[in-house]
Amino acid sequence: MIKNLKSKLIVLDGPDGCGKSSQRDLLAQFLTNNKVKIQCFRDPGSTATGEKIRNILLDPANHISDRTELLLYMASRAQLWDECIAPTLKKKNCVLLDRWVSSTCAYQGFAGGVGVQKVIDIAEHSLERVWPDLTIILDVDLKTAKQRMNRGLDRMEQKAAAYHKKVRNGFLKLAKMRKDIVVVDATQDMQTVHQQIVQTICKNLKLKIED
Ligand code: TMP
Repeated sequence: MIKNLKSKLIVLDGPDGCGKSSQRDLLAQFLTNNKVKIQCFRDPGSTATGEKIRNILLDPANHISDRTELLLYMASRAQLWDECIAPTLKKKNCVLLDRWVSSTCAYQGFAGGVGVQKVIDIAEHSLERVWPDLTIILDVDLKTAKQRMNRGLDRMEQKAAAYHKKVRNGFLKLAKMRKDIVVVDATQDMQTVHQQIVQTICKNLKLKIED
């Protein structure tokens, strides 16, 4: 049983192909088994409006400028906060998020050329809360990521290798800027990564697993 995760906001983030969704499912199952009341949401998405914005953002047929991209991600996120995250935290449940502002910092800020400080400034003006209790970055090299993305690619995934290299480095730079952002090596096997995620959460949020 894990105590002290009431109203905590935890984010899993990282480059495309880092294995985030599988780790989110493993973590959600682990926390539920340990009697933590948890809800998972994906950013962008999880609300009717957010899913429509997500479709616009990821459709390879759309041409979207860096600034528009940034504002659409932020708009979807504002809706996600109001409709899903705020009510869940109010009920004292834990929220597990698939991506958040850290992604906008890495993609639009560091890789897209908007600049990370501008992303943070806009987030501070648009959102109720910018920084979660803990953000875990699943770090993966480009080669491993590419092998894992053995399927049709969306508009963001189709961007050049140079862009994705900047995204990865952006996440690593962001982790150096803040103590509440921690990097886990996601090139390891799924169970090892899962164990490291659990250890990172216990250490950083000062949790104990009790019987
Ligand atoms: P997902 O497929 O992991 O849900 O993420 C959707 C894509 O959107 C992924 O390529 C990362 C990208 N993205 C951004 O560029 N900026 C953001 O703020 C977010 C949340 C995602």
